[in-house]
Amino acid sequence: VRTRVAIIGAGPAGLLLSHLLADAGIDSVVIDSRTRAEIETTIRAGILEQGTVEVLEATGASERVRSAGNRHDGIELRFAGEGHRIDFAGLVGRGVWLYPQHEVLKDLIAARLAGGQDLRFGVSAQRVEGADTDRPRVIATDADGAPLEIEADFVVGADGSRSVAREAVTGSSTGGYFREYPFAWFGILCEAPPSAEELIYSNSPDGFALISQRSATIQRMYFQCDPETDPTAFSEAELWDALQTRVPGTTLREGPIFQRDVLRFRSFVAHELRRGRVALVGDAAHTVPPTGAKGMNLAVADVLVLERALRALLQEGDERLVDAYAQTALRRIWKAQHFSWWMTNMLHVAPDASEFDRLRQVGELRSVVESEHGRAYLAEAYTGWPL
Ligand code: DHB
Repeated sequence: VRTRVAIIGAGPAGLLLSHLLADAGIDSVVIDSRTRAEIETTIRAGILEQGTVEVLEATGASERVRSAGNRHDGIELRFAGEGHRIDFAGLVGRGVWLYPQHEVLKDLIAARLAGGQDLRFGVSAQRVEGADTDRPRVIATDADGAPLEIEADFVVGADGSRSVAREAVTGSSTGGYFREYPFAWFGILCEAPPSAEELIYSNSPDGFALISQRSATIQRMYFQCDPETDPTAFSEAELWDALQTRVPGTTLREGPIFQRDVLRFRSFVAHELRRGRVALVGDAAHTVPPTGAKGMNLAVADVLVLERALRALLQEGDERLVDAYAQTALRRIWKAQHFSWWMTNMLHVAPDASEFDRLRQVGELRSVVESEHGRAYLAEAYTGWPL
């Protein structure tokens, strides 16, 4: 198979990139090892920055995001038994949208297929070759196990945190700057009405909890747990107890729990984001801890930078923006890395935390909520820097 841009990964990054390229008249092939059903049903994040929503809407990638999503103009930070509203709209004049990632993916897949995109599910990339030539190739096997080679002018690794494209860019599948955390999130989906109007990010002596939402009847909640936790080892009553004790001062509205998972996380930035004619976007390039909901939004930001660069390269033969891709994208990536690290450390309780650490943390939280500048930094970062 021969195409202009070979894209590994049909997640938000890969699909949005193919969508934008098609708009500019540049053909691409998108492959993903998963089935369409898997992609469309896997529960992931839920928060879109205002700029992400504007991009999805303006490019026709999702017409439903505004009508089916829910605008949120603030969050609650809860600690020491009290809630403090961070008023995004009042502080920075922007908001976020609650619209699950798999809904974004359904919209994008439908839009791409309607646009005649060559989009292949069940196709596993093995490796990328020829990064330093002008004919890079993806070596893959198709759904029947038959070999498939895709030759392109440019290859993009949008293949997530276990990227196979990364090796062609950095020389190693794992090499990068990273930080591990001594905790994970226990996530549940339940049938219940929302417990509050807005999301609650709560720090308590027992650890962090996030009370998020999905719809009027389905809620998503998380609590800090040990990374080795077995998700089946808790009864529903124990899960409600764990959640409730981590949001003191709020009463959760309970209901049947129909999904549970343990999410391990880390901070990661690949040592290189591009080599020759191969580039990484989204989780293949970097992962952030979930606190603050930056993951998918950062993937969208990478794609906007790379898409501009690919247009210049493939339509005008101008290599300058591709040469600058990593440097340009990394400015936002490290800001988002900092914000995600900061929210994570400010709100979770490390297993070895001393009394000093606990009291300092409450001091940090107070210094944010009691200062308009502190609240405004959080609001600006959470709703997203300009794209
Ligand atoms: C959700 C996840 C996040 O990481 C976050 O910061 C907010 C919401 C969610 O899944 O709803």
